Amino acid sequence: MRVLKKIFKQNRMWAERVKTTDPNFFRDLSRQQNPEYLWIGCSDSRVPANQIVDMPPGQIFVHRNIANLVVHTDLNCLSVIQFAVDVLKVKHIIVCGHYGCGGIQAAMDNREHGLIDNWLRHIKDVYRFHQTKIDAIQNEIEKINLLCELNVVEQVTNVCQTTIVQRAWKAGQELAVHGWIYNIEDGILKDLNVRITSPTKTFNFDK
Ligand code: CO
Repeated sequence: MRVLKKIFKQNRMWAERVKTTDPNFFRDLSRQQNPEYLWIGCSDSRVPANQIVDMPPGQIFVHRNIANLVVHTDLNCLSVIQFAVDVLKVKHIIVCGHYGCGGIQAAMDNREHGLIDNWLRHIKDVYRFHQTKIDAIQNEIEKINLLCELNVVEQVTNVCQTTIVQRAWKAGQELAVHGWIYNIEDGILKDLNVRITSPTKTFNFDK
């Protein structure tokens, strides 16, 4: 209980701090949200969307799951994308992975992890698509990190292929899909340069 009490105390102090800087912050924010960005990231506690890009509440619409996957049958993720694109009219969808991702690591070993193995199956598919390239690397950490990057690119493609994004582009809606990766070791974000802004534009990602 002591730990949870601490969390409520921290929350009060944070709210006070925010109000000191901007007395109307919560009142204004309660009236509407108007984020320009949808962030699809990993659930990893070390990769908190708002914090690593230093943005206050109200600016990023967030969806997080293990290994930042966009699965075509995942109603949860699709609903987030649909609401973000159709209702909030975000201008950017960012798929952000991170190096050293435990989900990616788990997908590469041959151990059993329980129910989550069904989710990791999708990463194993990405591994299979790029197996020759990945297996050519000797260093285990570098192997995992390359799959972390390739997984981001694959998920960017999945976002672009959703009927939601395809329809938005056909209707002339301004919308860019980006692939980024975060380094937990130094707190730095890297753009993987896979920015897609229309249904026709293709990209090459060559490491
Ligand atoms: Co992760």
